[in-house]
Amino acid sequence: MFVRIPYRLHIWLLNIGIVTLIVYLALPFRFASHYDYIDGAHIEEALLPQVTLNVSLQEVFECTYTDIIANNRFVYSSAHYHENVQHEEEIRPGGEFMPEHCQARYSTAIIVPYRQREKQLHAFLTYMHNYLRQQLIHYRIFLVEQYDQKPFNRAMLFNIGAKVAAEYGFPCLILHDVDLMPLNSAQMYACVEKPRHMCSALDHWRFHLPYQGLFGGVVSITTLQFKQINGMSNLYHGWGGEDDDLYVRIMAEAIGICRFEPEYSAYTMLKHKPEHRNENRVALLRAAKMRQHMDGLSSLVYKEVERRMHSLFTHILVET
Ligand code: UDP
Ligand code: BGC
Ligand code: MN
Repeated sequence: MFVRIPYRLHIWLLNIGIVTLIVYLALPFRFASHYDYIDGAHIEEALLPQVTLNVSLQEVFECTYTDIIANNRFVYSSAHYHENVQHEEEIRPGGEFMPEHCQARYSTAIIVPYRQREKQLHAFLTYMHNYLRQQLIHYRIFLVEQYDQKPFNRAMLFNIGAKVAAEYGFPCLILHDVDLMPLNSAQMYACVEKPRHMCSALDHWRFHLPYQGLFGGVVSITTLQFKQINGMSNLYHGWGGEDDDLYVRIMAEAIGICRFEPEYSAYTMLKHKPEHRNENRVALLRAAKMRQHMDGLSSLVYKEVERRMHSLFTHILVET
């Protein structure tokens, strides 16, 4: 039977169709997917107890983490976390902290690739030192600054940071953008068995994961795994693709990745203009697996211009 659709209804349907299409194309959660995760009750048993030598020689009883994890709560709104670094005297030169009254179970190197984001760096250091100390872990912040005018090479800066962190004996690396900050208190800054995508509930993506293989922003990986995959590619100049390349490397070695439940994985990204895209990124990514063993830690060449011990971070200035 033929039903005549009135003209006005036609226009309406068309409009609804156009709006739906715009929403579908423009909004970041359009490909939002659900993902497997380790729930809060299983986080503590998933964390790998591993520390640097100077921590293992401490003669105090071990810190406890059960309450910290169970008491996961929104802390990003706490004004005192943002205003200044509380009890700055607790932090050692180079941006290192270890609890004094108990022995930390986790030692983590936080590696931040950096160039010309002064305001973000200030906000990051203030918040993170306040945030991280309440987790009773041992950590040190390594800021790897690209000290040249070439296109930004995020992945190469991570390779450099990982190499330096390994020299300091860190068993666990957290590769961390300077503009991302965790919102809830128990996003534990420690490694688990598999490399972990930590910022899977990011406000920029409306707290959804845009695609399963997203492995950028903040990730944890053990120093051994990072060596096993030959680090990251040195060939991505400019924005994009290098984190997807990292994902390919991890999968090629059949290591796999994991995430924590969204309540633990919420992050905010500070606002900034988009960076210049790397037009070559898709082509590079296509050959990621093939290049893995020749391009990475094994082919890393750079010049360390200076290493400075700031009160809040270890500053490594490099020419790429
Ligand atoms: N970055 C930087 N200076 C730059 C470009 C990038 O310090 O000029 C660092 C910084 O840590 C930043 C990260 O690289 O958070 C990732 O770049 P961006 O934030 O532009 O990428 P997004 O994830 O926002 O797309
Ligand atoms: C890029 C990644 C980026 C992601 C999210 C992808 O297209 O290749 O580098 O992290 O989009 O912005
Ligand atoms: Mn960003």
